[in-house]
Amino acid sequence: MCGIVGFAGKKEALPILLDGLERLEYRGYDSAGVAVVSLDGDLQVKKSKGRLSVLREILDTQSPLSGNIGIGHTRWATHGEPNDTNAHPHVGQEGKIAVVHNGIIENYLEIKKSLIRKGIVFSSDTDTEVIVQLLEYYYRKKSNLMDAVYAVLNRIKGAYAMGILCSDNPGQMIAARKDAPLLIGYGEDGNYIASDVTALLAHTRTVTYMEDDEVAVITADDVQIFDRDRFQLEKEKHEIEWDVSAAEKGGYAHFMLKEIMEQPEAVRKTISPRLADGEIVLEELRDAKELMKNISRIYIVACGSAYHVGMVGKYALEKMMHIPVEACLASEFRYSEPILGESSLVIIISQSGETLDSMAALREAKRRGSKVLSIVNVMGSSIARESDYVLYTWAGPEIAVATTKAYTTQMVLLLMFGVYLAKQLDRMEQEEYMAVTRGLQELPEKISIVLSDIDHYQKAASRYFNHNSVFYIGRNLDYALGLEGSLKLKEISYIHSESYAAGELKHGTISLIEHGTLVVALATYEPLVEKSLSNIVEVKSRGAEVIAMTTELTASLIGSQASEMFVIPKTHSLLQSVLGVIPLQLFAYYVALNRGCDIDKPRNLAKSVTVE
Ligand code: F6R
Repeated sequence: MCGIVGFAGKKEALPILLDGLERLEYRGYDSAGVAVVSLDGDLQVKKSKGRLSVLREILDTQSPLSGNIGIGHTRWATHGEPNDTNAHPHVGQEGKIAVVHNGIIENYLEIKKSLIRKGIVFSSDTDTEVIVQLLEYYYRKKSNLMDAVYAVLNRIKGAYAMGILCSDNPGQMIAARKDAPLLIGYGEDGNYIASDVTALLAHTRTVTYMEDDEVAVITADDVQIFDRDRFQLEKEKHEIEWDVSAAEKGGYAHFMLKEIMEQPEAVRKTISPRLADGEIVLEELRDAKELMKNISRIYIVACGSAYHVGMVGKYALEKMMHIPVEACLASEFRYSEPILGESSLVIIISQSGETLDSMAALREAKRRGSKVLSIVNVMGSSIARESDYVLYTWAGPEIAVATTKAYTTQMVLLLMFGVYLAKQLDRMEQEEYMAVTRGLQELPEKISIVLSDIDHYQKAASRYFNHNSVFYIGRNLDYALGLEGSLKLKEISYIHSESYAAGELKHGTISLIEHGTLVVALATYEPLVEKSLSNIVEVKSRGAEVIAMTTELTASLIGSQASEMFVIPKTHSLLQSVLGVIPLQLFAYYVALNRGCDIDKPRNLAKSVTVE
């Protein structure tokens, strides 16, 4: 989705803006632009459709935009097609003010009509242009930029993170936020704004997160933040632990492959601070003992892969705790009138911590009186800040659009939470508890063993990449795993793929199985391996080619029926999906590579989905 970078400092702004935008490319975008103001108030803007490289080429052929203050933007079109005119920054008709904006202005049509009646001429189809035209309109009337900014914010409805420049105030950048992420970075050579911390890591790791309805005035030496009533605020600064190298490819062909290979470390970092002397210690829930003891129902709410983690959680947590657990799609949750109350716990899972549907579900849960625990990767993100309790996955920055290490760390942390709660509720035998915690400790090592078989998955992908349709089947935890395997494949390779509960096939879908159909059969959940075997036989006898995944314990049983085997180490059955997803990620990655796809930035997708 859209990205914002801004700089006010003592150096040329343009290289900093372009570098920042490059680091935001992973979020997905269709056009890019920059605006720079020189000391004498010359507002210069360049923008273009397409990748950042196109903008760079245009800038290279012209005299450089010069000035120490600027804003940049990568746009993911919502209102108006991707073209040069609709790209940000947008400039008012008087050419005085420039704006970059993430989010959607819901009442833009009404404002646009009223401004047109006043003789203002619009040049783009975007909702954003109303912000800048309205700003110039109020600025003309009030002659004070901050008065104009507050007047605009009082008038617009919707979500925004925005950066504003004005040629009459050449040393100043203004930022405002509501329901869209924006942070301020404090550097040695100046101060920054960004919608995503990865844009700033090369310059500073000291940041302040802006809250809804806050407005910031940023200069080279100073940052002032005001609330909705224009009272100045003292805000806390945070130190980001992520390293800039963590957001670089480090010799790998793609971020996705790098992130797959980082999983042993990411899982270790997520587990080890929470295991002491063989006991799970969730310090973050220290103040929640009473709440945890009274929980009688859990809702796990998330989108996409994070929802698939929720599906694993549903099966695993119910087995551990013997209380109902529901996995819900965040986009459906708030419209389904969920039955919530004090004894329900809502768990929101989100890598970015900014997914709009998940955020809305969180607010709905709180509104209905439930406590919210979130599992989040990005520190200080909106979901983390609005939750009652937060468990952070220590996966580091995830740049590839298709999630891998965030998925596994989310799953590990959810399972740890399940075991912890089962213990608190006295629902798990000590022996079982010890077995799972032992399993947790061994996970990083076992993930490394799976990864060491990388050549095998690469070869399998080169055998099967030409299939146009793939079915993933599995039962129980393997069904949940199949949902993720199938999503990984379709999102990056563009192969049509579906995931089915294996026992459900014969109720309709089996009619699609014919000679040569590729079926990935997952049989890692030991209690149901024999039933899965029957389903493999079922599809095989209709001509399917079967890739089967199972553990070393049942490899010979399953192997007799499969054309290709993915064999993974055995671990505790409730943790098995953590290992099971790795071959599916590698298979999807190499299939996409064989098909020449843009793996890190699949078409139509964005890393952080901040629209409904
Ligand atoms: C798929 C993928 C998405 C995300 C989903 C939720 O590979 O990455 O399905 O899992 O958009 O995103 P977060 O976790 O940021 O809320």
